[in-house]
Amino acid sequence: MSGGIFILSGAGLSAESGLRTFRAEDGLWEDHRVEDVATPEAFARDPELVQRFYNMRRAQAAEAAPNAAHVALARLQEEHDGPVHLVTQNVDDLLERGGAKEVIHMHGALRDALCAACEHRWPAPMEMAVPDPCPACGAPATRPDIVWFGEIPYHMERIQDALEESGLFVAIGTSGVVYPAAGFSQMARAYGIKTMELNLEASGGRFDEIREGPATEIVPAWVAEILGG
Ligand code: APR
Repeated sequence: MSGGIFILSGAGLSAESGLRTFRAEDGLWEDHRVEDVATPEAFARDPELVQRFYNMRRAQAAEAAPNAAHVALARLQEEHDGPVHLVTQNVDDLLERGGAKEVIHMHGALRDALCAACEHRWPAPMEMAVPDPCPACGAPATRPDIVWFGEIPYHMERIQDALEESGLFVAIGTSGVVYPAAGFSQMARAYGIKTMELNLEASGGRFDEIREGPATEIVPAWVAEILGG
């Protein structure tokens, strides 16, 4: 097929690289409650805990390797006859390390640091601490460049434009419960765009087509179909 493809990925894409998804059955996230580590209030209350949590996630992501699904999506972006917008809720860089040239990280990225005082961004050290001074303004206000609950996701205008120019919307490995990403499939349907879900188990959302299975199997198979083998 030709025309734009909009891909929204979530934690399921990186699960087989060994990175845990968020909504495990015990309701905990790497043994923490989300509100203790992934909100601006948590950072204000206990910045050391939040930094330790993201230092751990950064180390896990660095040790993980891209899997066949990341590599297939990078290949799709490279070879498809039309734009392929890779929009991810994931904060790891496994799509980039799988070869993707352009990835829209709507929930931020572990590999970046952000100054809470002046909004300067720079490559994050593996171990980040709150008193680390910002290289631009010197304020001791270093935080992970992660969009926490209660904050506004990044690149929303770009995402809207990408959706409008696409003819196919594909959600991969996301539970579809966190807005605004959870609303993208509805928006796509409203624009008359075909919607697909690729997931280990169907999320329960409305899609024109649903394929179930592990990402490392169903994503490469779907990409091969799109690219014609
Ligand atoms: N292959 C494909 N899909 C998988 C696999 C796999 N191997 N393993 C799990 N999944 C699917 C699950 O079926 C589930 O639908 O991945 C999804 C993971 O859902 P969540 O844990 O809710 O992750 P996600 O949708 O990315 O969460 C969205 O929530 O906490 C926030 O900011 C965080 O970006 C995150 C957002």
